[in-house]
Amino acid sequence: MRVCVALDNPTKEENLKLANELKEYAKDLWLKVGFRSYIRDGNEFVKELKDLGYNIFLDLKLYDIPNTMADAAEEIAKLGVDMFNVHASAGGRALKEVMKRLERFEKRPLVLAVTALTSFDDEEFKKIYGKSIKEKAGEFALLAYECGLDGVVCSVWESLEIKKKTSENFITLTPGIRPFGEDAQDQRRVADLKAAKENRVDFIVVGRPVYKSENPKKTVEKILKEIK
Ligand code: C5P
Repeated sequence: MRVCVALDNPTKEENLKLANELKEYAKDLWLKVGFRSYIRDGNEFVKELKDLGYNIFLDLKLYDIPNTMADAAEEIAKLGVDMFNVHASAGGRALKEVMKRLERFEKRPLVLAVTALTSFDDEEFKKIYGKSIKEKAGEFALLAYECGLDGVVCSVWESLEIKKKTSENFITLTPGIRPFGEDAQDQRRVADLKAAKENRVDFIVVGRPVYKSENPKKTVEKILKEIK
């Protein structure tokens, strides 16, 4: 299991400070750059993080028409990030087009599809997608698998079922992690490290429990030790 720390701090300086603080673990850690940082700090910031030796997950959750998504995917691949994501609900044509356009890259980033955001509860999700999270996340995962993506973003509670439906090697990346049972905040389907391990999750994303902790380095150390 690998750990991805979400760089969701309010300023670039704070994010860089955190990245520098955790630098000792750069080769074991992934950093997640999301909307906020990317919109504000852009490619220059991504490059600075790469230069520190980290693997980068660009969490922009692309959702658009197939051609526009594939154009964006190519630009993302040119940035040299190691992983990015798209919404599975963009549909099979869009997912296939993205993967087709990435074929020309010798070393392309991993591509994951978002199934159901971990902030959804079943009721809210059903109002939009008409099905339970469990059922729809499975369907989205199968679609992503069939379209040649590398894995999905899901909650810990769907990981095992998704691997059964697709393949053991199909990556599951799960946000909503509260490593040692910390406060769930706005997340609905949270899990701790033990549950993530039991559900054979490949990547955990941890945001607030790390960057809001008193000693982020110690927290990361503890997490890395626990998942060994
Ligand atoms: O602070 P916390 O650990 O809840 O942060 C989770 C991170 O994962 C946030 O950056 C959030 O945008 C992201 N994320 C999520 N659910 C998804 C996909 C990404 O919470 N399905």
